[in-house]
Amino acid sequence: MVEGGGVTSEEGVVSMLTGKMQEALTGQLIAEMYSAYLYLSMSSYFESLNLPGFASWMRVQRLEELVHALKFFDYIVEAGGRVLLGPIDGPPTEWDGALGAFEAALAHEKKVTGLINDLVEVARAEGDSATEEFLKWYIDEQVEEEESAEEVVSKIKAAGDDLGALDAELAQRS
Ligand SMILES: [Fe+2]
Ligand SMILES: [Fe+2]
Repeated sequence: MVEGGGVTSEEGVVSMLTGKMQEALTGQLIAEMYSAYLYLSMSSYFESLNLPGFASWMRVQRLEELVHALKFFDYIVEAGGRVLLGPIDGPPTEWDGALGAFEAALAHEKKVTGLINDLVEVARAEGDSATEEFLKWYIDEQVEEEESAEEVVSKIKAAGDDLGALDAELAQRS
């Protein structure tokens, strides 16, 4: 341990992150990879429902999650830490129709918001104001993530059984 609670690796590189902070950030990196995996699984499910616009929306969402994951990767590296990756859980493969899938996506985003809030708590407990500042982007992003899933849930409910027009609309997301 060095001053400020950072850790020194075997190579002698001083990290700005405590061991606990690095572990928590890496855990969230893996959670973002899981989100990408989950949405890719949902994309496959929508293909099976013959809803290519919904499937495409989920493919775009998957890319957003990979961006979230890489921002954690870059932050850990720039702080002088080391990313030690672990396994990603397998996602579900079936949902209860388009509404069931998007309700699951919304519930998942709410869960992720909770994980980000937990991460902020760790940063505070570790006295790591730089990481706390870094996490502000994710707090704002989670508001948008919940909103966009919620918006599609509402649109599915309004569309009822005819999802053709909504499928065409969701196909526009790039
Ligand atoms: Fe994310
Ligand atoms: Fe997300």
